[in-house]
Parts: sequence; C-alpha cells; structure tokens
Amino acid sequence: MIIRGGRPLKGSVVTQGAKNAALPVMASALLLRGGRLTLERVPDLRDIHTMADLLRHLGAEIAFGGGRMTIDVPDELKWETPANLVRGMRASSLVLGPLVARCGRAVLPLPGGCAIGSRPIDFHLKGLARMGAEIDLEQGSVHARTNGLSAARLYLDFPSVGATENMLMAAALTPGESVIENAAREPEISNLARALRSMGASVEGDGAGTIRVAGTRDLRSAAVEIIPDRIEASTYLLAGVMTRGEVTVTDIEPEYLQALVFKLEEAGIPPGVSDDSVSVSCAGRSWNGITLKTLPYPGFPTDLQPQIMAALCMAEGTSVIHESVFDSRYVHVAEFKRMGGKIDIQGNTVVVTGVRKLTGAEVHASDLRAGAALILMGLAAEGDTVVRGLKHVWRGYERLMEKMTSLGADIELMRDDRSED
Ligand code: EPZ
Repeated sequence: MIIRGGRPLKGSVVTQGAKNAALPVMASALLLRGGRLTLERVPDLRDIHTMADLLRHLGAEIAFGGGRMTIDVPDELKWETPANLVRGMRASSLVLGPLVARCGRAVLPLPGGCAIGSRPIDFHLKGLARMGAEIDLEQGSVHARTNGLSAARLYLDFPSVGATENMLMAAALTPGESVIENAAREPEISNLARALRSMGASVEGDGAGTIRVAGTRDLRSAAVEIIPDRIEASTYLLAGVMTRGEVTVTDIEPEYLQALVFKLEEAGIPPGVSDDSVSVSCAGRSWNGITLKTLPYPGFPTDLQPQIMAALCMAEGTSVIHESVFDSRYVHVAEFKRMGGKIDIQGNTVVVTGVRKLTGAEVHASDLRAGAALILMGLAAEGDTVVRGLKHVWRGYERLMEKMTSLGADIELMRDDRSED
C-alpha cells in the first residue's frame, strides 16, 4: 500500500461487526446437533473465512453473504482439525471446547507463537481437564478425550478471552451448574453468552468476573447479532486524531470505547459521544503525552496499543505505555522509529517522546494491529509511505481501502512481487 500522508481525514464510517465476537460465536455452532445457527452483521474478513473453512472441514455447511451467515451442523462431526488451517489462525483453538463437549474427542495442532507473544493455551486445557477431559500432547498436537464432561467450578489464573470462551461453550452443553471465576469481561464474551442463551443454555454474570452456566445436552437452533467492532472503530478515530481531521464512527456502542475516550480526554482532545457514535475533531489541535497500561477489559485494550502509540508519537510531551497483556507486543516500535518516532523500550514499558512531524518510509507489518498502526503513521507522515505485509491487515479490517478513501485518504495498492502477500 502506498500512502501519501499529510491530508486531514474528514467524514463518517460505519463500524463493522466485531471479528473477535464472530469467531467464537461461529465455533459455538458446533454445540448444535442437526441444528442451524444464524448470525447477523458478520464482517467479511480473512479470519472469518478461515474459521468457516475449519467448520466445513468438521462437517458443517455454511452460507455467508451480506453480513448474514447460516451454519448448519449435522448429527455427526469430525473432531480432528487440520494443521494448515489451525496454524494460520490462533482462534481455531476455539473449536476445542465445543468438540470435546459434543464429540468427547478433539485433536488440535498446538497453535504456534506469533509476532505478539508465545500465546500458549494452557488455561484452556486446564479448564477442560477440570471438567473431566483427558488431555495429552502428542507430536505437537493436543489430544483431548472424555466419556462425558462434568459441570465444575473453574478458575482462571488470568482473565483469558479465549480460555473463558472455550470453557463457556463446553459448560453450555454440560448438564449441571458450572462457574467460571476470574473470567474475561470483554463485550465479545457477552455476545457469545447471548448466543448460548438463545440456544437454550442458562448463562449469568457474563461481563462481570464470575459467570454461572447451567448447561443442557439439547441446545437448539438460534439466531444472534454480532456486536460492533470496538477495535476497528477506535482505529478510525485515531486516524482522525493523527491527521488532525474530523472523523465519526457510527453504529457503535460508545461504552465499548470508554477506555479510549478517557485517554483522549486526558490527552486534551475529548471526543464527542452520542448514543450510537463517537467522533474526534482535531483540526489545528495538539495533544499532550499520557501514561497508559494495557489491561483486560474494561481496561485499555492491548489491541489498541500500537495505534495509540502511533498517535502519541505526535503528542506534545512524553508518554509512558506499559503492555501488561502480551509478553512481547513491541515489534512495531522498530518500524515506527523508521518514520521518525522517538521511542525507548525498557522491558515491558515504552517511553514515547512526541515529535512535531513524522516522515514517510518503507515499513513492514508484523501483525494485524501493528499493520493498522503503520497505516495511521503513513496517513499522518509527510511524504509517501509504503506498507508491506498487508495480509495481516485484511484479517481484521473490512473494506479498509473503501473506508479510508471515503475519509479522504490518498492511498492505493500496488502489485509487489517482493512482498509475500
Ligand atoms: C483474544 O486473544 C483476541 N483474539 C486478541 O485479539 C486479543 O489481543 C486478546 O484476546 C486480548 O484481548 C480473539 O478474540 C480471536 P488471551 P486470546 O487468552 O484469547 C496469555 C486481534 O488483534 N494466555 O486473553 O488469545 C496470553 O499469552 C487479536 O484481533 C496464557 O498464558 O488472548 C496472553 O499473554 C490479537 N495461557 C494473555 O494470556 C492461555 O491458555 C491474554 O491472552 C491463554 C492465554
């Protein structure tokens, strides 16, 4: 992607359905036996198609178009997952809980690490083991088996999003009351809980730290709407900030963006908030440095750390960012420095000294959110920026070229046989 920077973005974009809500809800369809799950507002993204291919491999039939997806699940399912699909997307581990609960078996190649950390799934396995699954690791794959899971009191050492989702889905199909302590509280968890309730499980306490589930063996066909994507919406707001433009994101639940709104207020550029939109207006404005720490929801989201760091590269003053969720989510810092960012990494903390201007450069995206942040840097920088590694970006940002162009960005895609995507 070539970006000609320095143009203020102006206008309004509609928020896509949340990738990280749609993926677990899709996996939850596996809990049905000869049933259909209908999803509305599913974003058209690479990760969504990867998950659909995985579910088809297991035996589901899927139709997807115009944001609507139907997943028809047969009586018999396969329970071995193919390495090529699982290695391509870590969220594939979300079929583990449903398969063990439904088939009593699952084989899942251990997902590898990625650019933002080692990404183990030990919490997922511990939870399923506590419910009565036998877990073995053989040739790099998880082999799980059970003669029937039992309801259990589950505890999470860390409020892991994926582990909470796997336990929630396994418990929904397991008769009796299960409790998940120290559960993740992200809005995506509540979206999954709504899906499970509409299938006939009783789920209470989602969004708080303790979730109570009364499961049942016969979950039935259901329909569920996917919530708006808070990370996509926040990314466009920060594009408006960095280009000193005026950007509104609509069809969003402002409460999901509370941490970002507070931090922008602290930085001296308070956003405008209505009941279904958030907007920034930064023409001629400057912002001061802030201190922030990424935390599980409702704390500041780690998935927004590269994007807010990009904005703070242009603050008047110094900022301190502490990444507390992943063990190494600073791969993008080296690329930011190539564009003039003044950033000093000290362990899991980063000190950002604001500069008056960034300059265009050739940069490479290492993961989804770092790629998005590099596009923001290019939009704000003087001169041209070339961003490579866009395959990461298409995983999470629906119709990005269309949306950015509608806001006035001067960007185009170039055929480049040197980049792998
Ligand atoms: C989800 O990943 C999201 N992905 C991630 O978004 C997001 O960054 C992350 O939650 C944190 O909010 C999806 O929802 C598909 P975690 P997940 O389990 O579930 C450690 C994006 O950009 N951990 O909450 O994998 C883990 O290593 C992606 O859309 C264990 O140690 O995140 C990490 O340090 C990137 N053992 C921390 O917990 C486990 O068994 C949080 O991970 C599980 C996790």
